[in-house]
Amino acid sequence: MSKSDLMDDRSLNGNILIVDDKADNLRLLSRMLGQRGYEVRSAISGSAALMAVRALPPDLILLDINMPAMNGYQVCEELKACEQTGAIPVIFLSALSDTADKVKAFRVGGADYITKPFQVEEVLARVENQLTLRQMQLKLQQSNQTLMQEVQQRKQAQDILQDSEAALRQRTQELEVALEELRLTQMQLVQSEKMSSLGQLVAGVAHEINNPINFIHGNLRPARDYAEHLLMLIHAYQKSAPTPPELQAQMDSIDLEFVKQDLPQLLESMQVGIDRIMGIVRSLRTFSRLDEADIKTVDLHDGLDSTLMILSNRIKQDNHQDGSSDGVEIVKRYGDLPRVECYPGQLNQVFMNILTNALDAIEDGNSQCLAQGRSPIPGQVTISTWMTEAQTVHIGILDNGPGMPDSVQQRLFDPFFTTKPIGRGTGLGMSISYRIITERHRGTLTCTSTLGQGTEFVITIPLQQSRSQPQPRQREEAGLSPEPC
Ligand SMILES: Nc1ncnc2c1ncn2[C@@H]1O[C@H](COP(=O)(O)OP(=O)(O)OP(=O)(O)O)[C@@H](O)[C@H]1O
Ligand SMILES: [Mg+2]
Repeated sequence: MSKSDLMDDRSLNGNILIVDDKADNLRLLSRMLGQRGYEVRSAISGSAALMAVRALPPDLILLDINMPAMNGYQVCEELKACEQTGAIPVIFLSALSDTADKVKAFRVGGADYITKPFQVEEVLARVENQLTLRQMQLKLQQSNQTLMQEVQQRKQAQDILQDSEAALRQRTQELEVALEELRLTQMQLVQSEKMSSLGQLVAGVAHEINNPINFIHGNLRPARDYAEHLLMLIHAYQKSAPTPPELQAQMDSIDLEFVKQDLPQLLESMQVGIDRIMGIVRSLRTFSRLDEADIKTVDLHDGLDSTLMILSNRIKQDNHQDGSSDGVEIVKRYGDLPRVECYPGQLNQVFMNILTNALDAIEDGNSQCLAQGRSPIPGQVTISTWMTEAQTVHIGILDNGPGMPDSVQQRLFDPFFTTKPIGRGTGLGMSISYRIITERHRGTLTCTSTLGQGTEFVITIPLQQSRSQPQPRQREEAGLSPEPC
């Protein structure tokens, strides 16, 4: 049985150790307390008392001061110095009634003091008082311990909660990143699907128009020859014989002289029209190479022209008679470029994105002008191409739109960044173009923009592409947006 079990089993009234070198005193006190239901033990000397306390700590000690060998003060000091016995209350017993002795008794750790000869009621009252205090002290210690355990448990639970909260936060962050990537991939798919459907549509239209146009084109030359021969024949006939009056009347009614002059011109302008339609069909077919996945060696000017062709409804065509014109003027400053190895369909997509942005910007600028009561500035987009000695092709697309503030320039290449209203812009055009140029073609795409003056994008592409897939740029690997304008 453990010591604590023994303590729990002892009398409910308290376990008291009486220490006195006089057997009479021991007997008297033992009887007095025993009758009141206390469990009483006795020790005849200081050392015997210490042994008894160590064997089974009592709830209270009544300790005589004057004892041979080891007096009460010394016993008390030893008890107080020990952690297991230090809290046991000690009531000193003495015939001495000197105040100095009482002071000393309290200084060495005594809880109370009883002077001999003993008054029964006083002894019992003081004993009961100390035992009650001791019990309360023990209860307090116990509830303190329980409280500390609870605090400890709560702290542990809090730590666990904090850990799981951190794990949850991290998981949420991971999920957010995954969701963003998914959204981006989805939008990229939508964009490329859109471009490839446009390519398919254009290819389909070009194919359908191509056959009848070839048919007309093929027949137009002989038709012109036949008309020329017939006119020559009429001319020869008119010269060789006088015209009968009824034939002359018919010739006058159809205004033969005018027909003779106009027919060749009419056929000539039909030829010009057909040539132009054939040029358009060629452009459509060039543009519709969008879904070609392979690298090809092509003339970039064809790609630019075919993209302009697709955008022709937004571009200035012919001047009106009063000198005014609709749409944006395109100025081409094409340099002498060799054929370039590239993914032509994807480059067309980049030209399309940059040119569309330029046309949008010019239109927006003009709407703002009109809203502010100012007259709009004629829109102009200049496309320049040139080569550098580093075997690099440059394509510059400059517009005279309203330009971009710094805050827009900083985020221009960020996926989903747009200043356009919902439904008009997805904010993917520039980020996709940036990837196509830097990752697919190992080139660069930079932008310079001045508010109120315009914007220029410059694409550079090395003349020859390496067959291995290029690495993404370091800024992107670090999760940063591409370099700002
Ligand atoms: N030439 C330009 N002039 C002025 N602002 C421009 C020009 N080009 C791009 N921007 C700005 O950059 C933003 C991002 O362009 P981006 O092409 O990536 O997306 P978008 O045109 O808004 O939408 P999307 O091209 O996906 O339909 C535009 O919303 C616009 O504010
Ligand atoms: Mg755009």
